[in-house]
Amino acid sequence: KTIDSLGELRGTRVLVRADLNVPLDGTTITDDGRIRAALPTLTRLVEAGARVIVISHLGRPKGAPEAKYSLQPVVGRLGELLGQEVAFATDTVGSSAQEVVAGLEDGRVAVLENLRFNAGETSKDEAERSAFAAQLAALGDAFVSDGFGVVHRKQASVYELATLLPAAAGELVLGEVESLRKVTDQPERPFVVVLGGAKIADKLGVIDSLLGKADRILIGGGMAYTFQKAKGHEVGQSLLDASKIDVVREYMERAEANGVELVLPIDTVIAPEFSADAPATVVAADAMPADQEGMDIGPETARLFGEKIADAATVFWNGPMGVFEFETFAKGTTAVAEVLSTAPGYTVVGGGDSAAAVRTLGFDESLFSHISTGGGASLELIEGKDLPGISILEEDHA
Ligand code: 3PG
Repeated sequence: KTIDSLGELRGTRVLVRADLNVPLDGTTITDDGRIRAALPTLTRLVEAGARVIVISHLGRPKGAPEAKYSLQPVVGRLGELLGQEVAFATDTVGSSAQEVVAGLEDGRVAVLENLRFNAGETSKDEAERSAFAAQLAALGDAFVSDGFGVVHRKQASVYELATLLPAAAGELVLGEVESLRKVTDQPERPFVVVLGGAKIADKLGVIDSLLGKADRILIGGGMAYTFQKAKGHEVGQSLLDASKIDVVREYMERAEANGVELVLPIDTVIAPEFSADAPATVVAADAMPADQEGMDIGPETARLFGEKIADAATVFWNGPMGVFEFETFAKGTTAVAEVLSTAPGYTVVGGGDSAAAVRTLGFDESLFSHISTGGGASLELIEGKDLPGISILEEDHA
Protein backbone atom coordinates (compact mmCIF):
# COMPACT_ATOMS: atom_id res chain seq x y z
CA LYS A 1 0.00 0.00 0.00
CA THR A 2 1.28 3.43 -0.88
CA ILE A 3 0.76 6.82 0.77
CA ASP A 4 -2.13 7.44 -1.65
CA SER A 5 -4.09 4.68 0.10
CA LEU A 6 -4.14 6.78 3.28
CA GLY A 7 -6.51 9.32 1.70
CA GLU A 8 -6.74 12.98 2.75
CA LEU A 9 -3.85 13.81 5.08
CA ARG A 10 -4.42 17.45 6.05
CA GLY A 11 -4.48 17.65 9.83
CA THR A 12 -3.72 13.93 10.14
CA ARG A 13 -1.02 12.84 12.56
CA VAL A 14 1.25 10.57 10.50
CA LEU A 15 3.91 8.50 12.24
CA VAL A 16 6.82 7.93 9.86
CA ARG A 17 9.27 5.15 10.71
CA ALA A 18 12.50 6.40 9.18
CA ASP A 19 16.02 5.03 9.49
CA LEU A 20 17.97 8.05 10.72
CA ASN A 21 20.73 5.81 12.05
CA VAL A 22 23.54 7.99 10.69
CA PRO A 23 27.22 7.69 11.59
CA LEU A 24 28.22 10.24 14.24
CA ASP A 25 31.57 11.52 15.44
CA GLY A 26 30.48 12.77 18.86
CA THR A 27 27.48 14.86 17.86
CA THR A 28 28.74 15.57 14.32
CA ILE A 29 27.02 13.69 11.50
CA THR A 30 29.72 12.24 9.24
CA ASP A 31 27.33 11.07 6.50
CA ASP A 32 23.81 12.48 6.18
CA GLY A 33 22.78 10.13 3.35
CA ARG A 34 20.03 8.48 5.36
CA ILE A 35 18.53 11.82 6.41
CA ARG A 36 18.45 12.97 2.78
CA ALA A 37 16.92 9.66 1.76
CA ALA A 38 14.01 10.31 4.14
CA LEU A 39 13.14 13.64 2.48
CA PRO A 40 10.87 12.55 -0.41
CA THR A 41 8.32 11.02 1.97
CA LEU A 42 8.60 13.76 4.56
CA THR A 43 8.28 16.54 1.97
CA ARG A 44 5.29 14.85 0.42
CA LEU A 45 3.53 14.58 3.79
CA VAL A 46 4.40 18.19 4.69
CA GLU A 47 3.00 19.40 1.37
CA ALA A 48 -0.16 17.40 2.01
CA GLY A 49 -0.61 19.28 5.31
CA ALA A 50 -0.03 16.26 7.55
CA ARG A 51 1.36 16.57 11.07
CA VAL A 52 4.49 14.51 10.66
CA ILE A 53 5.96 12.56 13.56
CA VAL A 54 9.29 10.97 12.69
CA ILE A 55 10.38 7.93 14.68
CA SER A 56 13.75 6.22 14.35
CA HIS A 57 16.48 4.35 16.16
CA LEU A 58 20.13 5.37 16.31
CA GLY A 59 22.79 2.81 17.17
CA ARG A 60 22.07 -0.09 19.44
CA PRO A 61 21.22 1.20 22.94
CA LYS A 62 19.94 -1.54 25.21
CA GLY A 63 16.37 -0.46 25.92
CA ALA A 64 17.24 2.58 28.10
CA PRO A 65 18.36 6.15 27.36
CA GLU A 66 22.06 6.70 26.62
CA ALA A 67 23.15 10.23 25.74
CA LYS A 68 25.51 9.17 22.95
CA TYR A 69 22.61 7.58 21.06
CA SER A 70 20.28 10.58 21.23
CA LEU A 71 18.62 11.59 17.96
CA GLN A 72 19.05 15.24 18.92
CA PRO A 73 22.00 15.84 16.51
CA VAL A 74 19.87 14.61 13.62
CA VAL A 75 17.07 17.11 14.25
CA GLY A 76 19.01 20.23 13.24
CA ARG A 77 20.22 18.68 9.98
CA LEU A 78 16.74 17.43 9.14
CA GLY A 79 15.37 20.93 9.76
CA GLU A 80 18.00 22.47 7.45
CA LEU A 81 17.16 20.01 4.68
CA LEU A 82 13.40 20.44 5.09
CA GLY A 83 13.66 24.21 5.38
CA GLN A 84 11.59 24.31 8.55
CA GLU A 85 12.27 24.16 12.25
CA VAL A 86 11.75 20.59 13.43
CA ALA A 87 10.48 19.95 16.96
CA PHE A 88 12.16 17.34 19.16
CA ALA A 89 10.68 15.27 21.96
CA THR A 90 13.17 14.15 24.61
CA ASP A 91 11.33 10.87 25.07
CA THR A 92 9.56 8.50 22.70
CA VAL A 93 6.10 7.90 24.15
CA GLY A 94 6.23 9.89 27.40
CA SER A 95 5.04 13.35 28.37
CA SER A 96 7.50 15.18 26.09
CA ALA A 97 6.36 13.18 23.04
CA GLN A 98 2.70 13.75 23.90
CA GLU A 99 3.23 17.48 24.35
CA VAL A 100 5.21 17.85 21.12
CA VAL A 101 2.64 15.89 19.13
CA ALA A 102 -0.28 17.85 20.65
CA GLY A 103 1.44 21.12 19.65
CA LEU A 104 2.19 20.07 16.07
CA GLU A 105 0.54 22.16 13.37
CA ASP A 106 -0.47 21.04 9.88
CA GLY A 107 2.57 20.68 7.61
CA ARG A 108 5.02 20.65 10.51
CA VAL A 109 7.49 17.94 11.53
CA ALA A 110 8.62 16.56 14.88
CA VAL A 111 11.20 13.90 15.76
CA LEU A 112 10.76 11.69 18.81
CA GLU A 113 13.74 10.41 20.82
CA ASN A 114 15.43 7.10 19.93
CA LEU A 115 12.94 4.22 19.76
CA ARG A 116 15.53 1.84 21.21
CA PHE A 117 15.60 3.77 24.50
CA ASN A 118 12.48 1.66 25.12
CA ALA A 119 12.93 -2.06 25.80
CA GLY A 120 9.68 -2.87 23.97
CA GLU A 121 11.09 -1.78 20.60
CA THR A 122 13.52 -4.65 20.14
CA SER A 123 12.10 -7.13 22.67
CA LYS A 124 12.03 -10.79 21.66
CA ASP A 125 8.68 -11.01 23.47
CA GLU A 126 5.86 -10.25 21.07
CA ALA A 127 3.56 -9.01 23.88
CA GLU A 128 6.17 -6.47 24.98
CA ARG A 129 6.65 -5.27 21.42
CA SER A 130 2.88 -5.00 20.91
CA ALA A 131 2.49 -2.99 24.11
CA PHE A 132 5.14 -0.51 22.98
CA ALA A 133 3.66 -0.36 19.48
CA ALA A 134 0.28 0.51 21.04
CA GLN A 135 1.88 3.43 22.90
CA LEU A 136 3.36 4.65 19.61
CA ALA A 137 0.07 4.14 17.76
CA ALA A 138 -1.70 6.36 20.30
CA LEU A 139 0.40 9.29 19.03
CA GLY A 140 -0.78 9.02 15.41
CA ASP A 141 -3.69 8.44 13.05
CA ALA A 142 -1.74 6.76 10.25
CA PHE A 143 1.63 5.03 9.77
CA VAL A 144 4.15 5.29 6.97
CA SER A 145 6.95 2.73 6.96
CA ASP A 146 9.97 4.33 5.31
CA GLY A 147 12.98 3.03 7.25
CA PHE A 148 14.29 0.67 4.59
CA GLY A 149 17.41 -0.03 6.68
CA VAL A 150 15.27 -1.76 9.33
CA VAL A 151 12.63 -3.60 7.30
CA HIS A 152 14.47 -6.87 8.02
CA ARG A 153 13.91 -6.36 11.75
CA LYS A 154 10.79 -7.68 13.47
CA GLN A 155 10.63 -4.75 15.85
CA ALA A 156 7.70 -2.83 17.35
CA SER A 157 7.95 0.29 15.16
CA VAL A 158 8.60 -1.73 12.01
CA TYR A 159 6.23 -4.66 12.40
CA GLU A 160 3.57 -4.48 15.14
CA LEU A 161 2.87 -0.77 14.62
CA ALA A 162 1.89 -1.48 11.01
CA THR A 163 -1.00 -3.61 12.27
CA LEU A 164 -2.41 -0.93 14.57
CA LEU A 165 -2.92 2.03 12.23
CA PRO A 166 -3.77 2.49 8.54
CA ALA A 167 -0.31 1.76 7.13
CA ALA A 168 1.56 2.43 3.89
CA ALA A 169 5.05 2.07 2.44
CA GLY A 170 6.91 5.35 1.99
CA GLU A 171 8.76 6.58 -1.09
CA LEU A 172 12.16 5.31 0.06
CA VAL A 173 10.94 1.78 0.80
CA LEU A 174 9.16 1.60 -2.57
CA GLY A 175 12.19 2.91 -4.46
CA GLU A 176 14.62 0.59 -2.68
CA VAL A 177 12.54 -2.50 -3.32
CA GLU A 178 12.10 -1.61 -6.98
CA SER A 179 15.83 -0.95 -7.48
CA LEU A 180 17.00 -4.04 -5.61
CA ARG A 181 14.54 -6.32 -7.40
CA LYS A 182 16.38 -5.50 -10.63
CA VAL A 183 19.28 -7.34 -9.04
CA THR A 184 17.32 -10.22 -7.54
CA ASP A 185 14.81 -10.93 -10.30
CA GLN A 186 16.60 -12.14 -13.41
CA PRO A 187 19.57 -9.74 -13.37
CA GLU A 188 21.17 -8.99 -16.70
CA ARG A 189 24.39 -10.94 -17.19
CA PRO A 190 27.22 -11.01 -16.49
CA PHE A 191 26.00 -10.50 -12.90
CA VAL A 192 28.93 -9.66 -10.61
CA VAL A 193 28.76 -9.38 -6.84
CA VAL A 194 31.47 -7.67 -4.81
CA LEU A 195 31.48 -8.45 -1.10
CA GLY A 196 33.66 -7.05 1.64
CA GLY A 197 33.40 -5.82 5.19
CA ALA A 198 34.56 -7.33 8.42
CA LYS A 199 31.94 -9.85 9.40
CA ILE A 200 31.80 -12.97 7.27
CA ALA A 201 28.94 -14.37 9.37
CA ASP A 202 26.66 -11.59 8.03
CA LYS A 203 27.47 -12.48 4.43
CA LEU A 204 27.28 -16.27 4.41
CA GLY A 205 23.57 -16.36 3.59
CA VAL A 206 23.98 -14.04 0.66
CA ILE A 207 26.95 -15.99 -0.72
CA ASP A 208 24.98 -19.20 -0.33
CA SER A 209 22.06 -17.86 -2.33
CA LEU A 210 24.28 -16.18 -4.95
CA LEU A 211 26.22 -19.36 -5.70
CA GLY A 212 23.29 -20.31 -7.87
CA LYS A 213 22.72 -16.89 -9.44
CA ALA A 214 25.85 -14.78 -9.83
CA ASP A 215 28.43 -15.25 -12.56
CA ARG A 216 31.27 -13.91 -10.42
CA ILE A 217 31.66 -13.22 -6.72
CA LEU A 218 34.62 -11.04 -5.73
CA ILE A 219 35.60 -11.19 -2.07
CA GLY A 220 37.65 -8.48 -0.34
CA GLY A 221 37.75 -6.76 3.04
CA GLY A 222 38.12 -8.45 6.40
CA MET A 223 35.97 -11.40 5.38
CA ALA A 224 38.49 -12.45 2.71
CA TYR A 225 40.98 -13.73 5.31
CA THR A 226 38.67 -16.57 6.33
CA PHE A 227 38.68 -17.64 2.66
CA GLN A 228 42.49 -17.36 2.52
CA LYS A 229 42.74 -19.48 5.66
CA ALA A 230 40.39 -22.05 4.11
CA LYS A 231 42.82 -22.22 1.17
CA GLY A 232 45.60 -22.99 3.65
CA HIS A 233 47.28 -19.57 3.60
CA GLU A 234 48.80 -17.78 6.58
CA VAL A 235 46.66 -14.76 7.54
CA GLY A 236 48.79 -13.40 10.39
CA GLN A 237 46.88 -11.17 12.78
CA SER A 238 44.09 -10.46 10.28
CA LEU A 239 40.39 -10.78 11.03
CA LEU A 240 39.44 -14.42 10.96
CA ASP A 241 36.29 -16.33 11.80
CA ALA A 242 37.73 -19.77 12.46
CA SER A 243 34.24 -21.21 13.02
CA LYS A 244 33.36 -20.52 9.38
CA ILE A 245 36.36 -22.06 7.65
CA ASP A 246 34.54 -25.30 6.81
CA VAL A 247 31.49 -23.48 5.45
CA VAL A 248 33.71 -21.27 3.32
CA ARG A 249 35.58 -24.30 1.99
CA GLU A 250 32.27 -25.87 1.03
CA TYR A 251 31.26 -22.64 -0.77
CA MET A 252 34.50 -22.64 -2.73
CA GLU A 253 33.81 -26.20 -3.87
CA ARG A 254 30.21 -25.39 -4.74
CA ALA A 255 31.27 -22.30 -6.71
CA GLU A 256 33.57 -24.47 -8.79
CA ALA A 257 30.87 -27.10 -9.34
CA ASN A 258 28.32 -24.42 -10.34
CA GLY A 259 30.69 -22.58 -12.67
CA VAL A 260 30.61 -19.46 -10.50
CA GLU A 261 33.90 -17.60 -10.50
CA LEU A 262 34.88 -16.90 -6.89
CA VAL A 263 37.65 -14.31 -7.00
CA LEU A 264 39.85 -13.77 -3.94
CA PRO A 265 42.56 -11.15 -3.37
CA ILE A 266 45.93 -11.98 -4.89
CA ASP A 267 47.77 -9.37 -2.85
CA THR A 268 47.15 -7.63 0.45
CA VAL A 269 48.18 -4.42 2.18
CA ILE A 270 49.46 -5.31 5.64
CA ALA A 271 50.47 -3.33 8.71
CA PRO A 272 52.01 -4.22 12.07
CA GLU A 273 49.09 -2.65 13.96
CA PHE A 274 45.56 -1.36 13.42
CA SER A 275 46.13 2.39 13.23
CA ALA A 276 45.84 5.22 10.72
CA ASP A 277 49.58 5.89 10.54
CA ALA A 278 50.81 2.29 10.66
CA PRO A 279 53.39 1.61 7.90
CA ALA A 280 51.77 -0.17 4.95
CA THR A 281 53.44 -2.98 2.97
CA VAL A 282 52.06 -4.93 0.02
CA VAL A 283 52.55 -8.70 0.02
CA ALA A 284 51.20 -11.58 -2.06
CA ALA A 285 48.03 -13.00 -0.51
CA ASP A 286 49.76 -16.32 0.16
CA ALA A 287 52.82 -14.73 1.76
CA MET A 288 51.48 -12.88 4.79
CA PRO A 289 53.86 -12.67 7.74
CA ALA A 290 52.48 -14.10 10.99
CA ASP A 291 52.96 -10.87 12.99
CA GLN A 292 51.09 -8.41 10.71
CA GLU A 293 47.46 -7.89 9.79
CA GLY A 294 45.67 -7.34 6.52
CA MET A 295 44.24 -3.81 6.17
CA ASP A 296 43.23 -3.55 2.49
CA ILE A 297 43.27 -5.40 -0.81
CA GLY A 298 46.49 -4.80 -2.73
CA PRO A 299 46.94 -2.92 -6.04
CA GLU A 300 47.04 -6.11 -8.15
CA THR A 301 43.77 -7.24 -6.61
CA ALA A 302 42.21 -3.83 -7.24
CA ARG A 303 43.25 -4.14 -10.89
CA LEU A 304 41.92 -7.71 -11.13
CA PHE A 305 38.60 -6.75 -9.50
CA GLY A 306 38.38 -3.82 -11.91
CA GLU A 307 38.67 -6.21 -14.87
CA LYS A 308 36.06 -8.54 -13.43
CA ILE A 309 33.61 -5.66 -12.89
CA ALA A 310 34.17 -3.70 -16.10
CA ASP A 311 32.11 -5.92 -18.44
CA ALA A 312 29.31 -6.67 -15.95
CA ALA A 313 25.73 -5.89 -16.91
CA THR A 314 24.67 -5.95 -13.24
CA VAL A 315 26.88 -5.27 -10.22
CA PHE A 316 25.93 -5.46 -6.56
CA TRP A 317 28.53 -4.27 -4.06
CA ASN A 318 28.32 -4.58 -0.30
CA GLY A 319 31.15 -3.99 2.15
CA PRO A 320 34.40 -2.04 2.02
CA MET A 321 37.58 -3.67 0.72
CA GLY A 322 39.70 -2.46 3.63
CA VAL A 323 39.88 -0.05 6.53
CA PHE A 324 38.71 2.89 4.40
CA GLU A 325 38.34 5.14 7.46
CA PHE A 326 42.19 5.35 7.43
CA GLU A 327 43.41 7.10 4.28
CA THR A 328 46.39 4.79 3.77
CA PHE A 329 44.08 1.78 3.68
CA ALA A 330 41.24 3.29 1.62
CA LYS A 331 42.81 2.62 -1.80
CA GLY A 332 41.12 -0.73 -2.44
CA THR A 333 37.66 0.59 -1.56
CA THR A 334 38.31 3.72 -3.63
CA ALA A 335 39.40 1.59 -6.61
CA VAL A 336 36.23 -0.52 -6.47
CA ALA A 337 34.06 2.60 -6.12
CA GLU A 338 35.90 4.13 -9.07
CA VAL A 339 35.35 1.19 -11.40
CA LEU A 340 31.70 0.86 -10.34
CA SER A 341 31.15 4.57 -10.93
CA THR A 342 32.28 4.25 -14.54
CA ALA A 343 30.89 0.76 -15.28
CA PRO A 344 28.22 0.80 -17.99
CA GLY A 345 26.01 -1.82 -16.30
CA TYR A 346 23.34 -1.50 -13.61
CA THR A 347 25.34 -0.73 -10.46
CA VAL A 348 24.00 -1.04 -6.94
CA VAL A 349 25.87 -0.13 -3.79
CA GLY A 350 24.26 -1.98 -0.93
CA GLY A 351 24.00 0.05 2.19
CA GLY A 352 25.77 0.59 5.45
CA ASP A 353 29.51 1.10 5.26
CA SER A 354 29.91 0.81 1.51
CA ALA A 355 27.32 3.54 0.87
CA ALA A 356 28.96 5.77 3.48
CA ALA A 357 32.37 4.96 1.95
CA VAL A 358 31.26 5.98 -1.53
CA ARG A 359 30.05 9.35 -0.25
CA THR A 360 32.85 10.10 2.19
CA LEU A 361 35.45 9.20 -0.46
CA GLY A 362 33.89 11.95 -2.58
CA PHE A 363 32.00 10.03 -5.28
CA ASP A 364 28.92 11.66 -6.73
CA GLU A 365 25.88 9.50 -5.97
CA SER A 366 24.53 9.99 -9.48
CA LEU A 367 27.42 7.89 -10.87
CA PHE A 368 25.76 4.74 -9.49
CA SER A 369 22.41 3.31 -10.56
CA HIS A 370 21.32 2.91 -6.95
CA ILE A 371 22.87 3.45 -3.52
CA SER A 372 20.85 1.59 -0.94
CA THR A 373 20.28 2.94 2.57
CA GLY A 374 20.00 -0.59 3.91
CA GLY A 375 22.98 -2.72 4.93
CA GLY A 376 21.49 -5.88 6.42
CA ALA A 377 18.13 -5.14 4.78
CA SER A 378 19.54 -5.03 1.25
CA LEU A 379 21.57 -8.19 1.84
CA GLU A 380 18.51 -10.06 3.11
CA LEU A 381 16.48 -8.88 0.14
CA ILE A 382 19.19 -10.08 -2.26
CA GLU A 383 19.32 -13.32 -0.29
CA GLY A 384 15.62 -13.79 -1.01
CA LYS A 385 14.55 -13.72 2.64
CA ASP A 386 11.14 -12.54 3.78
CA LEU A 387 11.44 -9.00 5.17
CA PRO A 388 8.94 -8.64 8.04
CA GLY A 389 8.65 -4.87 7.62
CA ILE A 390 7.64 -5.30 3.97
CA SER A 391 5.38 -8.34 4.20
CA ILE A 392 3.37 -6.79 7.05
CA LEU A 393 2.48 -3.90 4.72
CA GLU A 394 1.20 -6.31 2.10
CA GLU A 395 -1.32 -7.87 4.49
CA ASP A 396 -4.72 -6.51 5.40
CA HIS A 397 -5.23 -5.59 9.04
CA ALA A 398 -8.59 -4.93 10.58
C1 3PG B 1 21.57 -0.33 9.77
O1 3PG B 1 22.44 0.46 10.15
O2 3PG B 1 21.83 -1.29 9.00
C2 3PG B 1 20.16 -0.09 10.18
O3 3PG B 1 19.99 1.17 10.74
C3 3PG B 1 19.71 -1.19 11.10
O4 3PG B 1 20.40 -1.14 12.30
P1 3PG B 1 20.50 -2.44 13.22
O5 3PG B 1 21.39 -3.41 12.49
O6 3PG B 1 21.09 -1.97 14.52
O7 3PG B 1 19.11 -3.00 13.39
